[in-house]
Amino acid sequence: MIQKKKSQLPVIAIVFFLFFVCTIFYNERRFQQIHQNENQKPNDDIAATHNKQLQSPPEILDRFSVCNSTIKYNGKLDLNTRLVQSDEQEDTNDVCDVFSGRWVFDNVSFPLYNESDCPYMSDQLACHKHGRPDLMYQNWRWQPHGCDLERWNATEMWNKLRGKRLMFVGDSLNRGQWISMLCLLESAIPADKKSITPNAPLTIFRAEEYNATIEFQWAPLIVESNSDDPVNHRLDERIIRPDSVLRHASEWDHVDILVFNSYLWWRQGPVKLLWSNERNGVCEEAESLNAMELAMKEWARWIESNVDPLKKKVFFVTMSPTHLWSREWEAGTEGNCYNEKVPMKDEGYWGSGSDLATMRMVGGILNKLKSKVSVINITQMSEYRKDGHPSIYRKFWESRTAEQLANPASYSDCIHWCLPGVPNVWNQLLFHFL
Ligand SMILES: *[C@@H]1O[C@H](CO)[C@@H](O)[C@H](O)[C@H]1NC(C)=O
Ligand SMILES: *[C@@H]1O[C@H](CO)[C@@H](O)[C@H](O)[C@H]1NC(C)=O
Ligand SMILES: *[C@@H]1O[C@H](CO)[C@@H](O)[C@H](O)[C@H]1NC(C)=O
Ligand SMILES: *[C@@H]1O[C@H](CO)[C@@H](O)[C@H](O)[C@H]1NC(C)=O
Ligand SMILES: *[C@@H]1O[C@H](CO)[C@@H](O)[C@H](O)[C@H]1NC(C)=O
Ligand SMILES: *[C@@H]1O[C@H](CO)[C@@H](O)[C@H](O)[C@H]1NC(C)=O
Repeated sequence: MIQKKKSQLPVIAIVFFLFFVCTIFYNERRFQQIHQNENQKPNDDIAATHNKQLQSPPEILDRFSVCNSTIKYNGKLDLNTRLVQSDEQEDTNDVCDVFSGRWVFDNVSFPLYNESDCPYMSDQLACHKHGRPDLMYQNWRWQPHGCDLERWNATEMWNKLRGKRLMFVGDSLNRGQWISMLCLLESAIPADKKSITPNAPLTIFRAEEYNATIEFQWAPLIVESNSDDPVNHRLDERIIRPDSVLRHASEWDHVDILVFNSYLWWRQGPVKLLWSNERNGVCEEAESLNAMELAMKEWARWIESNVDPLKKKVFFVTMSPTHLWSREWEAGTEGNCYNEKVPMKDEGYWGSGSDLATMRMVGGILNKLKSKVSVINITQMSEYRKDGHPSIYRKFWESRTAEQLANPASYSDCIHWCLPGVPNVWNQLLFHFL
């Protein structure tokens, strides 16, 4: 019996993980609907562009895109050599590494806002509202070794943002950070002086008196892909155009502060590549790490030729860890993040959700862009926060089976983060570096 159970576990776990990832991606659409007017039909624009472009390839990728055939990626366009090496900047090594530290319980200064006070809160992240009984996850302060993080001050942050556009670009984790930023800042603005403009791929929060915007652009794979519609996208067959960021980058030009992320969408198996010069719909299938590297390098080229660090600040937020297997931090257990109430104590903990090969690849690319891109390295600090995920305390849009209900751990969200919570600190780091 025990033998059998053991051998089935990983399979069951993988099935749940996939189920879970699907619900997450499915839920992207619901979030949009919260802020969407009925008369807006985001897909019409894409359809129109699509028709116009029929004669002038390359076709724009959308969720209907298909590969006529697929061959294995042969690395024929190894872009390594095309990446311009930036001048080695003076190593302005921070005296203190703010990413290395520990979590300290502090219920005097934290949380920085109340969940129910934030009008922009997402039902996927409002854990208290959805029944989470323990609230300690809201009370942790990040304490770097050897120095202090600047205290969060909304007025000061608004002063830094005055007259500027701040844009988060990425997936649902980055959207969580964007929502966290809105919640951290919105209370300083009277109700009639702020507004939010929903627009399928780009959502814009405006603060009149500061003439500032805080925006979120859905671009889970950074380059153009068939998943670029935040409302309707597919996960089963991801097709990317590895040599084009243009669809998203057209919005980046006039932004003053850009905050990128990309990771989890690359962790779902092979990705299909459809190059811009391919006219017969022949895709190449690449390992996800390879595909991500191609996308990151294309992004890096855009940064190289378009970012003047005196005019534009660019940040890259490293991978957000997941806590799917409690046995990784507590041997002998078979759960996930469900019921975890406190952060981990053991320093240097690194779970299987944070892929080291990805980190090395991304690190290499970012290192070449040092003079133009600042890294917000959230991975290690967030690894400690097995207690920070919604688990079962979020809105689920589809009904759960009796079997699932009998076993809460089986449908836990151990990927996203409750708010107020861990992403607030990512924003505190952003504040620190601005
Ligand atoms: C903070 O935590 C301490 C220790 O757990 C507790 O005694 C105190 O009542 C808490 N204060 C607030 C404001 O929640
Ligand atoms: C949150 O709400 C509590 C009680 O409703 C209040 O005492 C506290 O000041 C609020 N915190 C913030 C940051 O607004
Ligand atoms: C925040 O910054 C403003 C402006 O610098 C200052 O007047 C205010 O006292 C600060 N607030 C806190 C809580 O430190
Ligand atoms: C508001 O900010 C934009 C840049 O984001 C700038 O072009 C414009 O001149 C500003 N308007 C005012 C009234 O300051
Ligand atoms: C797929 O092949 C058909 C028939 O050869 C062709 O008409 C079509 O344009 C191809 N699709 C793409 C995306 O190139
Ligand atoms: C982020 O920090 C980890 C250690 O916590 C390090 O291994 C990794 O290289 C860093 N990543 C980047 C991109 O700087």
